[in-house]
Amino acid sequence: MFKLYNFKTLSSTNDKAKYFADKGQNNLVVIAEKQEKGRGRFGRKWSSESGGLYMTILLKEENLENIKYLTFIAAVSVAKAIKKISKLNSKVKWPNDVMVNDKKICGILTETVSRNEKYALIGIGVNINQKKFSKNIANKATSLKIETNKNYNIKNISRKIMKEFNSLYNYYNKKNYNKIINIWKKYSHTLGKSIKVKTLSGSYIGKAVDIDENCNLILRLNNGRIKKIVEGDIFVV
Ligand code: BTN
Repeated sequence: MFKLYNFKTLSSTNDKAKYFADKGQNNLVVIAEKQEKGRGRFGRKWSSESGGLYMTILLKEENLENIKYLTFIAAVSVAKAIKKISKLNSKVKWPNDVMVNDKKICGILTETVSRNEKYALIGIGVNINQKKFSKNIANKATSLKIETNKNYNIKNISRKIMKEFNSLYNYYNKKNYNKIINIWKKYSHTLGKSIKVKTLSGSYIGKAVDIDENCNLILRLNNGRIKKIVEGDIFVV
């Protein structure tokens, strides 16, 4: 169902997927062995040396409002694939990360293209065979290699992720968004924790109590009030 495009080096797999979207193509996956300008949310750099998996899924979309469910599907797909391949338990951290032993092993950057048609680009970066990370992220990031002391076949992992993605994407196509939220919650690293959330409009401290039907994080503030968080970064306190 998805056509695969493999590259040695790209600036960013999301950019290449945009190029394909501009040409009216979709239902494809772009994979690169390394990226020269890998990026994360809020314009951050995504370390993209060889040894990691860098892939972007390109889908034509009718309603770009719904793409947050695609981020959730991608995160759960990565968690399931990691379990199958390495037996490691991984958890999904709101809104777009996958964690192993409280360290980030995968980040997801979902972007959109609106021309005559609309497209979603789900960019997935998974740390696989990296032996270590630069000082500034070393205490926050991990890889399958660091966790298990084994090397993995990166192509094989991308295939496993796509298999899981395909199966969860059926719920998306049937607009069964509740099912997606409920599966995500089963893998949640976030719910039940006392956290600090940094949003573009300010910071909030409280307990992560739920995810609503639109993938927003529901926070119970220390004064008892409920706050809906639509975007931001969370930190366990
Ligand atoms: C984040 O944690 O902020 C998201 C990181 C997303 C990284 C992936 S790697 C493949 C795709 N191409 C990019 O440039 N970014 C995403």
